[in-house]
Amino acid sequence: MGIIKTFKRKIIKINNFFSKDLTISNKNIIVTGANSGIGLDLVSKLNDNKNNILAFVNKNKENIEKINSNKIRIITCDFSDVKLIKDYTKIISDFKPNIIINCAASFGPSKQNYENLDIEQYNLVLNINVFSPFLIIQEALKNDSAIKQIVNITSKIGSITLNKVGDYYYYRTSKTLLNAITKNLSLDLKKRNINVLCIHPGSVKTKMNSSGDIPINIASQKIINICSENNLKYSGKFIDLNKNILKW
Ligand SMILES: NC(=O)c1ccc[n+]([C@@H]2O[C@H](COP(=O)([O-])OP(=O)(O)OC[C@H]3O[C@@H](n4cnc5c(N)ncnc54)[C@H](OP(=O)(O)O)[C@@H]3O)[C@@H](O)[C@H]2O)c1
Repeated sequence: MGIIKTFKRKIIKINNFFSKDLTISNKNIIVTGANSGIGLDLVSKLNDNKNNILAFVNKNKENIEKINSNKIRIITCDFSDVKLIKDYTKIISDFKPNIIINCAASFGPSKQNYENLDIEQYNLVLNINVFSPFLIIQEALKNDSAIKQIVNITSKIGSITLNKVGDYYYYRTSKTLLNAITKNLSLDLKKRNINVLCIHPGSVKTKMNSSGDIPINIASQKIINICSENNLKYSGKFIDLNKNILKW
């Protein structure tokens, strides 16, 4: 198993060797889930190109603080309580984000079958994965908004069509809802030319998925490439890192 994983990672790195790294510069960007994994790597790369970043983290900020930049403002906010976002609405609207990249997510408790489903736990996961990020987006869309792109990092596990195994109620259905909201928003925001899409990053080696195949830096660079292109043809779509369209 270890040899297969190492081989897969090598293939991913070789394929990536030929892809061009695009950049985003001088933008105001909100990144959620910014103290670890894909979110942290996005902040680190975006910081290199003179972007202003409003970074939402949960309780810990020791990783993002190591970046040590005056272009990054860190907001500590536990998304499991939707009321907490209200404290930051002015900061969000004053920041005038051009791009939101929503990475924050909780996988939820380890047991997620229908026998163990606990509605209170379910609500917490929905708050983190869907409702708190939605409140940030809602605030960013108000008034004289500068927003041009909303990118929700989702998962293939949220696809109803591709679901062949069941289980994982909390995580799976929270991502399904996130996908549905993304699609709906893309239609509502079409007349404002705002690009709204979902990206499935694949199996990335992070805290959430220690057995992932894709190195974080490759995943985050591909997300930046997609944002840099800002192609409206992907608005309302559910795509992977290579811009293949996935089934809802
Ligand atoms: N890695 C994969 O293979 C994979 C596959 C498909 C989709 N994804 C998606 O990719 C995104 C990034 O995940 P990742 O792989 O980079 O894992 P990660 O490092 O665990 O990132 C998830 C982030 O969400 C934050 N978060 C969790 N609970 C929160 C809360 N209550 N309030 C605010 N923030 C909270 C975490 O902060 P704390 O750790 O400080 O709580 C963490 O920084 C997620 O949306 C995930 O669903 C990942």
